[in-house]
Amino acid sequence: MTARHASATRGTQQPAASRQITVRRAALADLPTIVDLRLALLRENGDHPVYGRLRVDARERAYDVFGAQLRSSNEVMFLAEVGSAVVGILRCVETLNSPLLHPDRYCYVSSVYVRPSARRGGVLKALLRRAGEWCGDRGLSEMRLHNVPGGSAGAAWSASGFAVMEEVRRKEVPRVRR
Ligand SMILES: CC(C)(COP(=O)(O)OP(=O)(O)OC[C@H]1O[C@@H](n2cnc3c(N)ncnc32)[C@H](O)[C@@H]1OP(=O)(O)O)[C@@H](O)C(=O)NCCC(=O)NCCS
Repeated sequence: MTARHASATRGTQQPAASRQITVRRAALADLPTIVDLRLALLRENGDHPVYGRLRVDARERAYDVFGAQLRSSNEVMFLAEVGSAVVGILRCVETLNSPLLHPDRYCYVSSVYVRPSARRGGVLKALLRRAGEWCGDRGLSEMRLHNVPGGSAGAAWSASGFAVMEEVRRKEVPRVRR
């Protein structure tokens, strides 16, 4: 795929590229596609100690949770399309910072997934460009995210200008019988 010449400008298309990427805001009608993409993301992390622990009824739960997210005024999901096919997703949530710190609010980026067949074609770049516009519209000056270390995600985030600023740690607590 040569989707390099991405158009992330509010769903408009640019001439030139034979396989243009467009990015649009997701609507409730996109819920089945969103569930598929976000479950695919979790399945790619099947061996991860947090994201690999998928519940058997995850799909049903996903409809409820992601439906509520689509209705929320504090967040947005963007879908990238090539032709009529949805190839990627990115979610932005306007998030309150600690009241002791600047800035007041930031954009938390999550649920980023590009279908394997569309990778390395500029889909993430297009999604991030649109997310940046959303931040600008809301007066948000910063994006933050968590990613699994290593792999394609780490390289993509570094290449996209996201610096590592924190480590997330986890420890299992043994059950104690009293
Ligand atoms: C990470 C991911 C979203 C990147 O999407 P993408 O559409 O392929 O990314 P882009 O083509 O826009 O690439 C942007 C830049 O990131 C870097 N990059 C992307 N994938 C890379 C990889 N596998 N290895 C090294 N660098 C990579 C490159 O610098 C690239 O720019 P370039 O191609 O001009 O060199 C995609 O690989 C994916 O969905 N991975 C599985 C899910 C995942 O890890 N999601 C992130 C959760 S935090």
